[in-house]
Amino acid sequence: MKARVLSGVQPSGNLHIGNYLGALSNWVRIQHDYESLFCIVDLHAVTVYQKPDELRAQILETAGIFLASGIDPKASAIFVQSSVPGHAELAWMLTCVTPLGWLERMTQFKTKAAAQQTIGDGLLQYPVLMSADILLYQAAIVPVGDDQSQHLELTRDIAQRFNSLYGETFVMPSTNLPSVGARVMGLDDPAVKMSKSAPGSSHAVGLLDSPDRIRKVISRATTDSNPAVDFETMGPGVKNLLGIFQAFGGHTADQMHAQFSGMRYGDLKKQVAEMVITHLEPFQARYRRITSEPGYLESVLKDGADRANAISYGTIDLVKRRMGLYTESPNCIQDPAKAVA
Ligand code: TYM
Repeated sequence: MKARVLSGVQPSGNLHIGNYLGALSNWVRIQHDYESLFCIVDLHAVTVYQKPDELRAQILETAGIFLASGIDPKASAIFVQSSVPGHAELAWMLTCVTPLGWLERMTQFKTKAAAQQTIGDGLLQYPVLMSADILLYQAAIVPVGDDQSQHLELTRDIAQRFNSLYGETFVMPSTNLPSVGARVMGLDDPAVKMSKSAPGSSHAVGLLDSPDRIRKVISRATTDSNPAVDFETMGPGVKNLLGIFQAFGGHTADQMHAQFSGMRYGDLKKQVAEMVITHLEPFQARYRRITSEPGYLESVLKDGADRANAISYGTIDLVKRRMGLYTESPNCIQDPAKAVA
């Protein structure tokens, strides 16, 4: 049996090249080596208010982006989190074994909570739901960008705590980061990671942006006070531009030095923009084709949800048995240890 991979993206709109380089491109690379599940995490998105009509549209847009990136729906299950009740169910069971202090320490909770007038409980519980996403499928590998590393550590802590309280139940998931592109920074401010929600029209390159906009945003990117690329002294803005080029092009460090040492920033930016456009143009053509086929995305999501649900029943049943909760599910596992293959 192949080990499982699980990862997810919030359908909060404006997916950008950070999401692509940190997560999606890595998913595509490894999807055939594992039993892969890729989830559109709408329950996570509603931890901050989303306009319902926009959220519905963004869920389908995100599914289109998964497919246009090269996720193969025959090999990988693509589904929406709220179509699989096991996520919310397991999240509650895990909440009951998670100390409050672990959640209050989460960096993303502190940052997001600081931006809200009223801090919803869902924001605090966010990483428990994420742990449930992963543990529900006994996923061994979780390919993500670097900003999710702390949530993955928490997932292992929760799994370990559950296992020590109730007996061996969960597979311990490992974090899989890409070697380049694990943290793409904001183009206008290379001190912060590129993010969907950051304000400012010069912050991110969206996956569906036009070539003109891509050239414009990259031409405005923050660099440093050097006149040209110096690998010894370059600032974070230049490093970020080079990282984007390298991640898209698959160049080695030596090739990057040979191509860019001493290059003036105007030329560097032109080359980075053309590299991004070369990759995004065929991606966008695929996206347009996929999303113009009536009912196609919905059928992919239905098939993915069926596959995900079928796996989820086994874990929910196992966890219920472990905790002493009542279960008479027809999917019950006679020997719980077998579910952790
Ligand atoms: P989200 O929706 O913020 O981002 C989706 C994926 O993109 C990566 N990413 C980045 N990588 C490199 N540079 C960046 N600037 C950048 N910004 C985002 C993220 O690391 C992520 O891999 N909590 C998650 C969603 C989630 C999830 C899960 C992930 C929910 N359940 C279970 C893995 C497994 C999130 O908000 O990702």
